[in-house]
Amino acid sequence: MCGIFGCILKSGNAAPIIHKALKRLEYRGYDSVGEATIYEGKLLVKKDKGKIDEVHAAHNLDDLPGRIGLGHTRWATHGGPSETNAHPHGDCETQVMVVHNGIIENFLELKNELEEMGHVFKSKTDTEVISHIVEEELKEGCSLADAVRNAVEKLDGSYAIAVISNKEPDKIVCARKESPLVIGVANDAVYCASDIPAFLPLTNTAVIVEDGELVVLDDKGYEVRKISDRILVSREPTIIDWSPEMAEKQGYPHYMLKEIHEQPLCLRNTLRLQEQYLDLMTTFLDRAGEVFLVACGTSYHACLAASYIFSKLAMLATHPIIASEFVEQHGRAINIDSVLLAVSQSGETADTLEAVQCARERAATVLGLTNVIGSTLTRVARAYVCQQSRPEIGVAATKTFTSQLSVLSQLALRLAKKRGKVSHVEIEQLEEKLQQIPDIVERLLEAQEGQIKKLARKYRDKKCFFFLGRGISSSSALEGRLKLLEIAYAPAIAFPAGESKHGPISLIEPGFPVIFVCPRDGTHKTIRSNIMEMKARGASIIAVIEEGDEAIKGMADDYVEIPKGLPEVLSPIPYVIPLQLFAYYMATERGCDPDQPRNLAKSVTVK
Ligand code: F6R
Repeated sequence: MCGIFGCILKSGNAAPIIHKALKRLEYRGYDSVGEATIYEGKLLVKKDKGKIDEVHAAHNLDDLPGRIGLGHTRWATHGGPSETNAHPHGDCETQVMVVHNGIIENFLELKNELEEMGHVFKSKTDTEVISHIVEEELKEGCSLADAVRNAVEKLDGSYAIAVISNKEPDKIVCARKESPLVIGVANDAVYCASDIPAFLPLTNTAVIVEDGELVVLDDKGYEVRKISDRILVSREPTIIDWSPEMAEKQGYPHYMLKEIHEQPLCLRNTLRLQEQYLDLMTTFLDRAGEVFLVACGTSYHACLAASYIFSKLAMLATHPIIASEFVEQHGRAINIDSVLLAVSQSGETADTLEAVQCARERAATVLGLTNVIGSTLTRVARAYVCQQSRPEIGVAATKTFTSQLSVLSQLALRLAKKRGKVSHVEIEQLEEKLQQIPDIVERLLEAQEGQIKKLARKYRDKKCFFFLGRGISSSSALEGRLKLLEIAYAPAIAFPAGESKHGPISLIEPGFPVIFVCPRDGTHKTIRSNIMEMKARGASIIAVIEEGDEAIKGMADDYVEIPKGLPEVLSPIPYVIPLQLFAYYMATERGCDPDQPRNLAKSVTVK
């Protein structure tokens, strides 16, 4: 994920305004930054790797002449953070500059075609293909708007782009598909940006661009057209009454809630991973003598769920290990045939990196799954894949869990296919379901949030909670418990449900809240017995169940329903959502700040 910004001023220099706007978009990515302006018929560019303040200290981002320009703050997806991979990206003739947020899925095919036509690429990004296609279209005599429109019609994937060219130096052309894009309108300027906060101190008049629309900005204002048929769209601006702080959170009171709601989008992004990275990882996993899934906290819970998925789909036994225990538990046992798949949102967690270091010293293969390209994990892993969930600011990991699970499920599916362990029909059904998961999560968020808020109000004064699940759902239970205790400071206990009668059940007394995660899978019958055991001792049962599961509804004091028809291996993604929301609303009910829980840090770089 990245932040894009563009502006056309009636007078004055655009660069300082772009610089300030990028600072307001920095939460969207911060591994490199760049600006381009048009001045006296030339495109001028400043860009480099590093945070905005670092690049500004080295290059003075305010010092570019020109009243029209673009800016970009990057969160690498294709090509590591570097000066050449920083946006804006130009064409062969430096006639065009493009900033982009999103992922172009077919960029390799397009790049090959363009290289055969003689285009020379400077960067490793997917974005640069757009600049070269626009260059080609301009050569054919198209206007800038038509060139951009023809270019985006060739793209598969997601994009919000803004393009300038010295051929039409008074315009910015932008387009959107699945990545956010908004226009800001002021008396003396017009802006485009990934997000309203970028221009909110300058104007509170905004126009939301919809998917499949192209917008031309010039001194007269903005013109919106449909990309498909070029029909003019009439759209009145909206007045935004958010404070700048609210705007950064897109109107949500906390980053955590914003990030919970971002999950449909992030999950869609995980479905756009480059095939070759997944294939490479799959090859290593297939050849491995043994596979360790190593991580901490929420990322460890994703590993735990993944161990069920690898086993059920690809018949691959894996060892999910808490990173801080890895060296002691397995350090001396690993060897050249071992594969360690390290899973870390930040890519910087010290315990995970220590396990990685130990594996490397013993010649094992290290693979990575992370959110941060350019992090230590991406530098030391033999191969890695990005979880595509954009910066996570709330200390509690939410979108991290679901995005990691989507990627790990894709790896398991690929491995299953490669090993021929599951029928083609089953694989196709699972692939289809995986594609539907973002929509399912979106509907779930819409339908259940109000009810979960009420549940939090009802249970807010309870002293302690149990979270129980069986099979793959035991990982969702652990994750629900971690969320609740870390942000609402509610002591909570989680076990695989079958284990509760081996000790933990002695805590139960009348009114003790027990949260059961119970999709209708192979464990359904047994978990019903576990619910009965708790109920018989007076526990209050809160169950996350499949829609219409009358058997459990009849036993539960409260329940949350999840849509039917989800395969067991994908169930943790939607089933964890009510648990995230419950933790969030419990925290706010108890007067805790969910974004900054005490004693915790987002990235734990100490052992
Ligand atoms: C919990 C949480 C932590 C992290 C853990 C690992 O909400 O955020 O438990 O999951 O510190 O962090 P990464 O994934 O960055 O290695």
